[in-house]
Amino acid sequence: MAMPRGRLITFEGGEGAGKSTQIARLAAGLRAAGRSVLETREPGGTSGAEEIRRLLVTGDAGRWDAATELLLICAARRDHVRRLIAPALAAGTWVVCDRFADSTLAYQGIAGGLGAETVASVNAVATGGLVPDLTLVLDVDPAVGLARSHRGGGAETRFETFDAAFHAAVRQAFLDIAQAEPQRCVVVDAAQPVDVVAAVIAATVRHHLALP
Ligand code: TMP
Repeated sequence: MAMPRGRLITFEGGEGAGKSTQIARLAAGLRAAGRSVLETREPGGTSGAEEIRRLLVTGDAGRWDAATELLLICAARRDHVRRLIAPALAAGTWVVCDRFADSTLAYQGIAGGLGAETVASVNAVATGGLVPDLTLVLDVDPAVGLARSHRGGGAETRFETFDAAFHAAVRQAFLDIAQAEPQRCVVVDAAQPVDVVAAVIAATVRHHLALP
C-alpha cells in the first residue's frame, strides 16, 4: 500500500514574530494527535545548509548584496529540500518549516529589490516545484518584532540591522503574498498573547488541512 504523503506547513513573517515558539507548539499538538513531525528551518535544516546560514545571518549588513543572498539561500534550500524535506514528505512525515520560499520573495525580491520574477525562477530551481500545503504568516509591527528579537540576544543579527524601511517592505510583502494566494496562506495577528496565537494556528491547521 502506498504511504500517504506528509504535509508541508511553513511559517513566515518578519523578525521576532514568534515563529519558533509557535512552531514548537504546533509540532507538539500534531505529535499528540499521533503524527510524525519534522521541525526544521531555513536557511538551514541540513549540515550544508546550516553552514550557508552562518554566512548569511552573521556579519555586517553590506557583507552580501541581495543577489548574492538569493543565490546562497537557494543553494541552502536546494540541499534542504533534496536531503531532508522531500524524503520526509515521501515517508508520510509532516514537515513544519520556519521560513521557506516566500521569505526569499519578501526579503530579496521585494525589500531587496530583485523583483518577483528573478526570485521565482531561482526559487523554482531550489524547490523543484515543491509548494507548501499551508503557510502561516505571523504578522507583527516590525518595531515590536525587532524589539523582541533584540531581547533574544544571539549572534544572528545581520538582517536585524537593515533599516526600518526594509522591514516595513518585508511586512507588506508577506501581506501581499497572502492576499495573492488565499488558498495557501493565512495571516495570523502575532501581536496577540502566545496562547491565543497558538490556538488560532491549531484551529487554522485543522480547518485548512481538514483534520478531525
Ligand atoms: P530567522 O531569524 O527567522 O531564523 O531567519 C534568518 C534570517 O534570514 C532572517 O532575518 C530572514 C533571512 N532570510 C532571508 O532574507 N531570505 C530567505 O529566503 C530566508 C529563508 C531567510
